[in-house]
Amino acid sequence: ARRVLLAAPRSFCAGVERAIELVERLLSERGGPVYVRKPVVHNAHVAAELRSRGVVFVEELTEVPHGATVVFSSHGVSPAVRVAARRRGLEVIDATCPLVERLHAEARRAAEEGGTVIVVGHAGNEEVDGILGEAPGRIALVQSVEEARHVPVADPSRVSYVIQTTLSVHETAEVVDALRARFPMLKGPSSEDVCYATTNRQNAVRVIAVESELVLVVGSKSSPNAHQLVEIARRSGSAAHLVEDPRDIQPHWLTEVRTIGVTAGASTPPPLVNSVIRALGGLGPVTVEKRESVRETSG
Ligand code: F3S
Repeated sequence: ARRVLLAAPRSFCAGVERAIELVERLLSERGGPVYVRKPVVHNAHVAAELRSRGVVFVEELTEVPHGATVVFSSHGVSPAVRVAARRRGLEVIDATCPLVERLHAEARRAAEEGGTVIVVGHAGNEEVDGILGEAPGRIALVQSVEEARHVPVADPSRVSYVIQTTLSVHETAEVVDALRARFPMLKGPSSEDVCYATTNRQNAVRVIAVESELVLVVGSKSSPNAHQLVEIARRSGSAAHLVEDPRDIQPHWLTEVRTIGVTAGASTPPPLVNSVIRALGGLGPVTVEKRESVRETSG
């Protein structure tokens, strides 16, 4: 039989679980439509499920009728969005993850003290957009080592940074090193400020990848953190593929493969992982072993 190594922790983080619970509670207490700004979670299956039950996903608040209720997703929003919601008379249910909220508070505080705040992250990411909105003009985005070397700052002795929660720990370290080389007085978070769920999932995929010939990461193509897990598995020496669901598994991937690692990003619901494991069982006998790298208890 083939061995399936199941990474732990994997799937939903506490922040995403909480956001989905909030939306589900609204649906059951009030019925649809429930307006949600931005995907509540980057997973096509979850989104389709919620849509069928009355959730309407919008990109911007102008799509929400005056006076209606809107949910802000776990990625957080910029202050301008909160103002716009108030102007529109919307009732806001805020599902921003407390860890993202902490980055906003950090950025706000640093900007108030003067100096430049740098957000290490990816352009266009919802979480990053929200944080950049905290202090327009005093917050800069840095996406790479190259950008770290050139980002303009007002006073090099007063620069601080925050990090997008879903970046890979590896990728971040290089950018922060480049910033520190330029700004010796750089202020930034201690390691426990990096999202524990992202860190744990990245460590867990490394643990299974070194033992596996193939790693399947269950997640949506739109999920940045699922892509990160694929990258990390490859860097650890295994072949790796992102699968949205069992239909994406290509049987030829499994040729001559004895050990398959399975994990899922923080936006993937656990039942989807189970269906992938069942599908692997359909392609030949398997034994499933769990590899727990760290016990995840709280958010
Ligand atoms: Fe929050 Fe981290 Fe999840 S920031 S939403 S716990 S990935």
